Amino acid sequence: MNKILYKKQLSQNVFSMVLEAPLIARERKPGQFIIVQLGGDFGERIPLTIADADAEKGTISLIIQAVGVTTLRLVNLNVGEYVANVLGPLGHPTPIKKYGKVIGVGGGIGVAPLHPVVQALKAIGNEVKIVIGARSKELIVMEKELRVIDPDLTIVTDDGSYGKKALVTEPLKEACETWKPDLAIAMGPPIMMKFCAATTRPFNVHTLVSLNTIMIDGTGMCGGCRVNVGDETKFVCVDGPDFDGHLVDWDNMMLRLGTYRAQEQEADHRCRVGLNK
Ligand SMILES: Cc1cc2nc3c(=O)[nH]c(=O)nc-3n(C[C@H](O)[C@H](O)[C@H](O)COP(=O)(O)OP(=O)(O)OC[C@H]3O[C@@H](n4cnc5c(N)ncnc54)[C@H](O)[C@@H]3O)c2cc1C
Ligand code: FES
Repeated sequence: MNKILYKKQLSQNVFSMVLEAPLIARERKPGQFIIVQLGGDFGERIPLTIADADAEKGTISLIIQAVGVTTLRLVNLNVGEYVANVLGPLGHPTPIKKYGKVIGVGGGIGVAPLHPVVQALKAIGNEVKIVIGARSKELIVMEKELRVIDPDLTIVTDDGSYGKKALVTEPLKEACETWKPDLAIAMGPPIMMKFCAATTRPFNVHTLVSLNTIMIDGTGMCGGCRVNVGDETKFVCVDGPDFDGHLVDWDNMMLRLGTYRAQEQEADHRCRVGLNK
């Protein structure tokens, strides 16, 4: 049981939440995630990135976009209430190394996993440029936190209601042409990461992406998070979540993401995979 210590609404359906989780806070590294289960054994299990952590206070921060039943139930919990199960830290941390020039691109809720990674890369001396994008102004989150890392942060929106009217791939291409990054990191919806990887490919800029596949057990056993990367089959929960964006089979991944769409649309759907009920 993990107590909710803080909750704040950041935009229409995006919330920031701080949970008591001392062991996870001590162990986690940028790029890792947790699996949260509400309502005991029959609750759906959902992966969420650890957006930040305070090892001294024993807390972890989450940025949650309410998109369906479980995320909605989670953001409806209040300070003082408890999350039944929190499993983690899971996944491999993002390699925090001296690359030189790094461009971080975050789309929508993808800024949550991007933040701890660019923060750590800047702290060890990389030059960091950040681009964030969303459909419209009210969906831009964590601008203040990211400006601490890159005061010249580029903001784009699909409808032009904030920053430049463009997709994130436009400033990314400009940066590849003029700034010449050594590494690009793209985090956000699969379609955005797919096109970020396509943008950097002609410039030979190594591009890391953080994959957000369906996950169930988070231990490499169920196969729910299977993706094709180059000639290999990988499990995002134990082999990722970061992969070389130029090698990911995006179309297969996006097809698999739609597998449970009908069940997700049933408001009362509860995951019973493996429980034979
Ligand atoms: C490694 C990783 C890190 C993530 N980090 C965050 C984060 O920090 N903040 C955040 O808001 N979201 C994050 N997500 C996505 C989040 O897990 C899904 O939005 C959530 O599971 C949706 O559940 P739901 O019941 O609310 O919605 P549903 O109605 O069940 O589904 C809505 C959509 O969410 C996706 N989804 C559904 N079930 C799962 C599942 N078990 N695992 C993964 N995706 C699923 C599908 O694309 C689906 O179409 C992350 C996903 C992964 C894999
Ligand atoms: S979530 Fe089951 S194998 Fe990755």
